[in-house]
Amino acid sequence: MLYAICFMNNVSIKKIQEGVFLDKKILVRADFNVALEDGKIKEKFKLEACKKTIDHLSAQSGSKVALISHLGRPEGKKNPEFSLEQIKDELEIILERKIVFVNDCVGSEVSKALDALNVGEIILLENVRFYEGEEKNDVEFSKKLAENFDVYINDAFSVCHRNQASVTGITAHIESYAGLRLQEEIKNLNRVIHEPESPATAIIGGAKIETKLPLINNFEKAYSHILVGGKIANEAIDQKLAFSPKVILPFDFAKDRFDIGPKTIRRFKEIIAQSKVIVWNGPMGKFEEQPYDIGTREILDAIVESDAFTLIGGGESVQVLEENNLMNKISFVSTGGGAMLEYLSGNQMPGIEALRMKKE
Ligand code: 3PG
Repeated sequence: MLYAICFMNNVSIKKIQEGVFLDKKILVRADFNVALEDGKIKEKFKLEACKKTIDHLSAQSGSKVALISHLGRPEGKKNPEFSLEQIKDELEIILERKIVFVNDCVGSEVSKALDALNVGEIILLENVRFYEGEEKNDVEFSKKLAENFDVYINDAFSVCHRNQASVTGITAHIESYAGLRLQEEIKNLNRVIHEPESPATAIIGGAKIETKLPLINNFEKAYSHILVGGKIANEAIDQKLAFSPKVILPFDFAKDRFDIGPKTIRRFKEIIAQSKVIVWNGPMGKFEEQPYDIGTREILDAIVESDAFTLIGGGESVQVLEENNLMNKISFVSTGGGAMLEYLSGNQMPGIEALRMKKE
C-alpha cells in the first residue's frame, strides 16, 4: 500500500488552485463515457462532475476551455454511434454555458475554434478514441493533443486507471494539473482507505469474483465487516473460496440464488446500522428484474438511514441511486467504476501518477 500512502495527504499532485490561467488555452480531460439509450443519457451525474473545475477556470480572464473525453469503445475509428455530439445539448444545460462542438480533437479545427471562441462559451471536442493513438498512448498523438493548448487539467478520476494519451501521455508535453473533481475523489477515497473510523463496513456485490477479490482482501486489513452479495457471492460459494470471519457471505437466497434472502438481509442491516463508515460497490442480486431487487433496495435503504460516512461507486450502484433519487443522501458518490475498484484495491493509477511526476 506504499502507493496509497504517497497520496495520504494529497500532497504530491499539482492542483488547479495553484495555477494562474489568465489568457491560457486549457484542455480539460473529463469523463463523458455515459450510457445512452435511444439517444437519452442515463448517467447525468457524470456530466455534472467537472462543473466546479470549469467554473473555476472560466472565471479567469481570457481563459479558453476545451473539454476532451472518450465515449464507448470505437476502437480507433470514427463512428457516429459514439460521437460526443450526442451529449452536447444536455451538457449545455448542466454546465449552464454555450458549447461549441468541434468535429475533431486534434489539428487545425481545434485551433480555429479556440481562436473564434467567445467569452462564456466552451468547446466540446469529438471522441478522443476515434484515434487509435489514444488507447495505444502513442507519443506523437499525445503531442498533437497538447499542441493547441497551454495547460492540461485531468478532472476524470474514472479513467485514471487507463494509461492512455489523453490521460497520461499528454502530461509529458504540457503543464498539467489535477482538477477539483479529481481532488475530491482522491480525498474521499483516501478517507475510507486510511484508518477509517471503526466499525467500518464494505458491501460488495455485482459480478466477476476475480475482479473483486483484491478489493475484498484489501478491506479485510482495516474493516470490521465485508458483506458480500450478488453474483460474486454465488461464485465464491461455488468455488469454495476461504475468507477470514470478517467476510460474510449470504446464508439464504431468493429463488435460483438471484438475490440475497430475508435472513441475510436482516443480518446485513444490523451490521450496517452499527457502522461508522460504509463503502458500497455492486448490487446484491439481479436488481433489474423484480422481485430480485429486494436485497439491493433494502441494503440501500439501510445505508441511507445510517449516520455513517457513506461512499458509493460503480455504474450499477449509481444507477440504483439515480433511479431512486437518493444521490444527495450519500456522503460521497464516486464517478469511478473500474477506477474506484483499482484505487480501493491499492493499485497504481497511471493518470494520478502522471500528475505526481509533473510536480516541480
Ligand atoms: C468508465 O466508464 O468506467 C470509464 O469511462 C472507463 O471506460 P473504459 O472502461 O472504456 O476505459
